[in-house]
Amino acid sequence: MNPTPTPTSTRDAAVELAILDKIASTWPRRATVKKPELDLEGLFQPELPDYPIALVPFRDHPRFAEAPEERKQALLSWAWMAYNRNTIMNEEKIANPAFELLLHARFPGTNHPGIKRTVVQALVDENYHTFMHLSATLVTERKRGLVFNESLLPDSLACRMLQAARARAADAWEQDLLTLAYAVVTEISINAYLNLLSRDQSIQPINRMTTELHNRDEFSHALVLAEIAKSVYVHMNDAMRECFIRALPEALRGIASSDYKTWRAILEHLGFEHVDEIIGDLEGRTGSRVLVRDYSGLKHLASELGILERMDFEFA
Ligand SMILES: [Fe+2]
Ligand SMILES: [Fe+2]
Repeated sequence: MNPTPTPTSTRDAAVELAILDKIASTWPRRATVKKPELDLEGLFQPELPDYPIALVPFRDHPRFAEAPEERKQALLSWAWMAYNRNTIMNEEKIANPAFELLLHARFPGTNHPGIKRTVVQALVDENYHTFMHLSATLVTERKRGLVFNESLLPDSLACRMLQAARARAADAWEQDLLTLAYAVVTEISINAYLNLLSRDQSIQPINRMTTELHNRDEFSHALVLAEIAKSVYVHMNDAMRECFIRALPEALRGIASSDYKTWRAILEHLGFEHVDEIIGDLEGRTGSRVLVRDYSGLKHLASELGILERMDFEFA
């Protein structure tokens, strides 16, 4: 990686990274991929909604309220399938590319057996998560008699933002670092997003349990990525640090915000009326984009790195 990293700390990375060896050694007994699969068909309860209405940003809009009940239920099914798709996309286009870069020690401070073991395990986990979320979507399609035509939807907001940031980057090292920053934020913050569904007793049990099982793995991934971020950060030069500090809050906005482009596509596909009015009113409302409110993971990491004050984000 260019520019040449200049270590700025006396911290003994190998001692810190011993935590990763411990995490790696518990993987065989805690990873979801090692557990029996959920009986998705048996768990399905048709009378329960597929996605919490509380997470629909326009749920109180009079134009939405007046729509037929059946259409609103279809919207919740589509919201769940779009959620699965976004989760899969964030694994495929953000987490996995960063894990591959880490596996091949493309960042300073990452040539450590604990990193290699936990990163390969995380890659296995992430691919299994893709399988879990895809299976959940396929069951929803079958049980609800819907066809989830995902080509109607845009890429996830975080993927679009990373893509745009990488396109603006002047050098390959910067592109790689942006991918790492987005992956760190995704892995540290995804549990807050999964919690919104995994704790909701009012929705389809399959959906609740899929997110709950996913969340268990992400608890370890968050620890792994925080340790890796610390190890890389101490070895970064000033230019790399600046790029990293700029990317973190941007990535958090991508992960923690409602994506109106996706909502618009779903509303239009399902034949809702007054879509421009519904989305237009949302865009005019301050704070309406906030989906996830728990930023504690990134806040904690930023404090540990001593960069909290330099980050352009209102954590409160
Ligand atoms: Fe995952
Ligand atoms: Fe993960």
